[in-house]
Amino acid sequence: MIDYKVINYQCLLDALENIPELRQWAKVLPEQIEQGLSPTRWGDLPQWQGVLDQLPDLTPSTLNFKNHVQIGAAADCSDAQREQLKQLLMGLHPWRKGPYALFGLDIDTEWRSDLKWQRLQAEIEPLVDRLVLDVGCGNGYHCWRMLGDGARRVIGIDPSPRFIHQFYALEYFAEKARADLPVDILPLSIEAMPTELKAFDTVFSMGVLYHRRSPMDHLRELKDLLRPGGQLVLETLVIDNIDTDHTLVPEGRYAKMRNVWFIPTPNTLLSWLRKCGFKAEICIDVCPTSHEEQRRTEWMTFESLADFVDTENPALTFEGHPAPVRAIFTATA
Ligand SMILES: C[S@@+](CC[C@H](N)C(=O)[O-])C[C@H]1O[C@@H](n2cnc3c(N)ncnc32)[C@H](O)[C@@H]1O
Repeated sequence: MIDYKVINYQCLLDALENIPELRQWAKVLPEQIEQGLSPTRWGDLPQWQGVLDQLPDLTPSTLNFKNHVQIGAAADCSDAQREQLKQLLMGLHPWRKGPYALFGLDIDTEWRSDLKWQRLQAEIEPLVDRLVLDVGCGNGYHCWRMLGDGARRVIGIDPSPRFIHQFYALEYFAEKARADLPVDILPLSIEAMPTELKAFDTVFSMGVLYHRRSPMDHLRELKDLLRPGGQLVLETLVIDNIDTDHTLVPEGRYAKMRNVWFIPTPNTLLSWLRKCGFKAEICIDVCPTSHEEQRRTEWMTFESLADFVDTENPALTFEGHPAPVRAIFTATA
């Protein structure tokens, strides 16, 4: 087990003791966290921990999670300190979800995740005072926005420890301005969640369903995490050029991604939600992915959307499938 100074789940564990539905989970969570951050499983972990350990002692004068994610202002540190911070955070490359403004440093990530938030923010049940779970939260960009929209507590889960380190690199500074921020992200996949929790007021699953081999099982697992009457917010890839029921099951890769299993039409996904027992299911948005929303940047220098679509015909992926379109759905448990 790595000795972490920055990643500390004690406040979360204490808080879970006060939520009857989550008390049992709190007992097994330390063991799950240890497995999720195991240096034997993840060879790069000591390097990422080194980044967190070297973060400078800077206190932000301002925090804003409402309109964007801003921690600190440019005036809170010198140019030299900002450059040092940038070099350190580059040790956690690639930065996929964001953007973040940290002490005047613009972390311009591959995805403009704020655009997805804009598409759903006014359409979902208000998050004020809600207990929220974000399944497949990546580095937690939307978790900050959920907190900014008034959630009582936000828990994100993601099996990729690199993203967990990115989140805590930011949280380290945010905590200096406001102790005990009720937002954490855990190194877990949804399979590790206890069954039948029925605890969360809102559960988000964004960008996860198409990675699941069994989408129906994923929807049922999400339903089991929600309290009766709680709201699911689901975002996934769809095929939108056909009105009828249809599902693309790409053989081989989709937009160069290896593990893409099922891409339904919006109608088909609505029927899946009904079959899994959800009520009030609606599609609130359908949007083709643009080069404004997903692109290569200084903070993510690998291939991005421009490399995933057909250069001759941008309506198709590199493999000849319909190019990425994403849709957002809400439904009640
Ligand atoms: C496309 S990203 C979406 C990130 C974020 N939710 C968003 O909408 O921008 C998918 C994320 O799901 C995570 N993921 C993949 N399989 C998962 C699973 N079984 N349980 C939870 N998260 C998973 C990946 O590590 C990745 O960070």
